[in-house]
Amino acid sequence: MTVRITELIDKMSLLEKVEQLSQLSADYFQGDEVALTGPTDKTKVTTEELYSVGSVLGISGADRARKIQTDYLQHSRLKIPLLFMADVVHGYKTIFPIPLGLASSFDPELVEQAAKIAAKEAAASGLHAVFAPMVDLVRDPRWGRVMEANGEDPFLNGSLAAASVRGFQGRGESLDENHVAACVKHFAAYGAAEGGREYNTVDISEWQFRDQYLEGYQRALAAGVRLVMTSFNTLFGVPATANQVLMRSILRKELGFNGVLISDWNAIGELKEHGVASSQTEAAIKALKAGVDIDMMSFAYRELGRQLEKREHVPQELITLLDEAVYRVLKLKEELGLFADPFRGMDALKEEKNVFTEDNLEIAQKAAEESTVLLENKENLLPLSPNTKITLLGPLAREKDLLGSWSWKGDSHENMTIAAALQSKFKKMTVLTESFTAEELDLVALAQKTAASQIVIVALGLTSDQSGEATSMTHLELPAEQLALLKALKKIGKKVVTLVVTGRPLVLTEVSKLSDAVLLPWFPGSRGAQAITEIIAGAINPSGKLPMSFPRSIGQIPLYYNSLRTGRPLTGEDSLDKENKYLSKYIDEQNSPLYCFGYGQSYATFEIKEVVLANNQVAKNDELRLEVTVANESQIDGQTVIQGYTHQCVAETARPVRELKMFKKIALKAKTVKKVEMRIPTARLAYVHQDLTSSVDRGAYELYVGFDANAQKKISFEII
Ligand code: GLC
Repeated sequence: MTVRITELIDKMSLLEKVEQLSQLSADYFQGDEVALTGPTDKTKVTTEELYSVGSVLGISGADRARKIQTDYLQHSRLKIPLLFMADVVHGYKTIFPIPLGLASSFDPELVEQAAKIAAKEAAASGLHAVFAPMVDLVRDPRWGRVMEANGEDPFLNGSLAAASVRGFQGRGESLDENHVAACVKHFAAYGAAEGGREYNTVDISEWQFRDQYLEGYQRALAAGVRLVMTSFNTLFGVPATANQVLMRSILRKELGFNGVLISDWNAIGELKEHGVASSQTEAAIKALKAGVDIDMMSFAYRELGRQLEKREHVPQELITLLDEAVYRVLKLKEELGLFADPFRGMDALKEEKNVFTEDNLEIAQKAAEESTVLLENKENLLPLSPNTKITLLGPLAREKDLLGSWSWKGDSHENMTIAAALQSKFKKMTVLTESFTAEELDLVALAQKTAASQIVIVALGLTSDQSGEATSMTHLELPAEQLALLKALKKIGKKVVTLVVTGRPLVLTEVSKLSDAVLLPWFPGSRGAQAITEIIAGAINPSGKLPMSFPRSIGQIPLYYNSLRTGRPLTGEDSLDKENKYLSKYIDEQNSPLYCFGYGQSYATFEIKEVVLANNQVAKNDELRLEVTVANESQIDGQTVIQGYTHQCVAETARPVRELKMFKKIALKAKTVKKVEMRIPTARLAYVHQDLTSSVDRGAYELYVGFDANAQKKISFEII
């Protein structure tokens, strides 16, 4: 049935229109097991309002959704189906590594596959749309939501944003029953909050916003994302949710987005807190004028409807704005096939068949294996042979929650712990139940407890609730008692393998000195413990690469590889010598990160043997074609990521010292050599000029090819 949406709108009363634009949380529709993701003051809602609200967030389960939809339609005057949305950020019930972990795979196909599985599980459980991907560029690990992001590089971020949208929505035009509508968030630049403090001011220039922050959203839009979510923060001085420059001029007009724009939780109501609205009504009008279609949990649109109902005359401008918004919401429902089948996807049998399956979990394990980053491996301590005598200890050794934040339906009780997984592989492993995390450690006791083994594995890190929304931190070292344990183990002469479970980059300077090997699984998801075990045992050769720089100290933040050169760059030795005083550096810390963007070790040894440019003079509308010869010099098969960074030698605006413009993950058998064809379309070298337009310059460029942002293989080329 093709709904004539405009006819439907003509039948709707003013109150029905504002209700259609309102979204309530699950607790208004069900009394039990609701995980709220924002503040609520339990505003009263009448029955009539409840059965005309347009969408609900946080309900799932085929039977539950079917029951709610049935009840809703029985009471709904116009029989417009309810839209079910939720946060499915890195998996629905099968939980993948956190997005910052998945980004470490540098594998868009894997990211797409993970989103595809998440969509299939969510759709079978009655969901129609998900609040993902989050593509806020992040350069400050003090902000807890870096765990949801794709890291500090615009090109990697954009590539993974597009892959996620394709996975959630499918590659075809229609949104079939195994896919869901995706919602790119948070528009815009939420990741640039000052001081990394949650919900704080974002004050970047439009030039920097367009040159560095826009790409993730742009590529999600180009991939056909159906929804966009506004961000809590101000940008260019105005809160995003009321920002007509951002939403009307840039998002809708310039980027051509005509899908549904949804506010973040209570973001419309919070326009009063920002001080740009004096009432709910004024806040609602400002959001409507900015083109916000759905009011998530602020009740401002409803309040506007009540106020307008009282007026003799309702300004036509507001009616038009309301009708346009309602049109976009109904259009989305039609694209989802809800008018044809309001129970689309709410199928308990399909849910049973598609959700949390062994196949899905195997992909989750593969994702965790590919996302884990080997940071240190002194004297090739890892991998360990199965009959190695090991002692395992540390607070994360028997922690079940390896899922990380935003893993809503994920059930950590079904997870294996790191201890259980390692014990299944290493029969001579002792697991210490004492976590030895007091600050004053009894070295004698520790020595006795670990006497049976020369090698200890220490599972350290943060807990799930120390990253994600509303978790900004001003200290990024491991907890003091965890560092004390590492120091003690070093003192008693153990070989230490340190596992760091975390949702954000940490200051691991001490950890790197005190450990013989350091493995970073992030929050690795439902099969994380198994993935860690496969890597430690050598069945899997780690290939993860950092999507965010790891600082030596917190004072270096914001710290990112694609920074500008400055007029007094530190080009020589990155040390604390007193010479060369007048340079862009610190007197108490090095400039470089402890671990740079793109970095990650392998058990194998890879080398770039040769880079040949087919054309070192390239026309503006052409592409750079290169052949990279890579060797695996070791006896171990493995994967690595070839990375290509460009630098424009002279430009109208200062350009980053390096910018990732190509990457490719390859597998290479032991002692083999591979020639890899790679391309860089010159369009990818466009940058934002002073007049805020983006274009490619003719001129001299440098290309650096290697395995991280410090790539040394340099080739010059020219765009003519
Ligand atoms: C939260 C988050 C947003 C999430 C929404 C619904 O406040 O900012 O990312 O999708 O509310 O849970």
